Amino acid sequence: MEFSSRLGKLAPYPFVEISRIIAEKRAAGADVVTFGIGDPDIPTPRPIIDRLLTASEHTPNHRYPETDGLPEFRRAIAQWYKQRFDITLDSDTEVLPLIGAKEGIGHAAFCFLDPGDVALIPDPAYPVYGVGTMFAGAESYIMPLKHENGWLPVYSDIPEEIAKAAKVMWLNYPNNPTSAVASIEELATAVAYCRDNDIALLHDAAYSEVGYEGYKAVSMLQVEGAKDIGIEFHSLSKTYNMTGWRVGMAVGNADMIKALFQIKANLDSGIPQAVQEMAMEALTGSQDCIDDNIAIYERRRDRVIKAVRSIGLSVDVPESSLYIWARVPEGFTSAEFAARLLEDMDIVVTPGSSYGEYGEGYIRLSLTTPDEQVEKGCQRIENWTVPSPKAG
Ligand SMILES: Cc1ncc(COP(=O)(O)O)c(C=O)c1O
Repeated sequence: MEFSSRLGKLAPYPFVEISRIIAEKRAAGADVVTFGIGDPDIPTPRPIIDRLLTASEHTPNHRYPETDGLPEFRRAIAQWYKQRFDITLDSDTEVLPLIGAKEGIGHAAFCFLDPGDVALIPDPAYPVYGVGTMFAGAESYIMPLKHENGWLPVYSDIPEEIAKAAKVMWLNYPNNPTSAVASIEELATAVAYCRDNDIALLHDAAYSEVGYEGYKAVSMLQVEGAKDIGIEFHSLSKTYNMTGWRVGMAVGNADMIKALFQIKANLDSGIPQAVQEMAMEALTGSQDCIDDNIAIYERRRDRVIKAVRSIGLSVDVPESSLYIWARVPEGFTSAEFAARLLEDMDIVVTPGSSYGEYGEGYIRLSLTTPDEQVEKGCQRIENWTVPSPKAG
């Protein structure tokens, strides 16, 4: 049997590989502590689950959903955007529910990119921007994100012919994996660059609601004129501990939303309606769980930072997002250092190189691990004598 060439170009999805290693270790009796995937361990809040239970009894919810979701769900999204960011959205033309942000991000490439086209992709980054680009037969032009630039692209470094050729730019703030944030002025620079070069701007704001010590992320759509050229992706996954229910949304430019709808209408049949009802409950009900979650993650953030600093790793204290992005000691690659932590201490972290070549030199630790596991993992790290790179 012969498979497509695109399949051959795919690296194993990092977390599939990590799950396999954890399963193998656990089967061999190891007590593995994982700071791997960003998947909240805190349960979905009770009122949201109750809504699912009621919604599951409602027989119209047993049938195919519409690709563009329930009108009342789209209205709930628009209302949430108004309350949270003071942005007015037309719920019929500027809002599209997604089966999780990942689904929309992957499919978005098909709206804008033909074979041979160019997409501007940050590096390090959530892998789906580049994978979607590759699936569409297009080329990624890498925009390096570096510590010295606040993990923001330097637009003046992009050659003019690339800027002219590029059809889309992906951005993601608050950022995975670096946890960097972007100010409204920094997003305005991106909007201006994309407008000047006729580039569609796709902003992934999946972590907008996880902010520490009062930090509130901005929306790219708060930049004047952003809606003329861009859409923003959101997820209920991290905000409401709903990774398992698969629900998110894209909002913004009506033509871009329509294009994504057209692609999706041919590939999927929307979000189960009972899950849409859960999402409505999440967006319109009590928002207390957000602060409750942040308090938990903030404690874990401080604990993990103390542990990794105790072994000499350099790390910035994140204002947002669910990750600690730590520099590995001189002489180790990300993968070598992650492998040593796993072999010596049964601790799983993600090598920064899984997010692209500019992630090399870092590891990512996720804070979505139960408190007692975080404590156990931190104690192990603190008691670890970091081997010399040669021994690694
Ligand atoms: C930057 C970023 N965008 C999108 C997603 C996917 O979100 P969802 O669960 O809504 O598919 C993730 C998941 O980790 C992410 O890190």
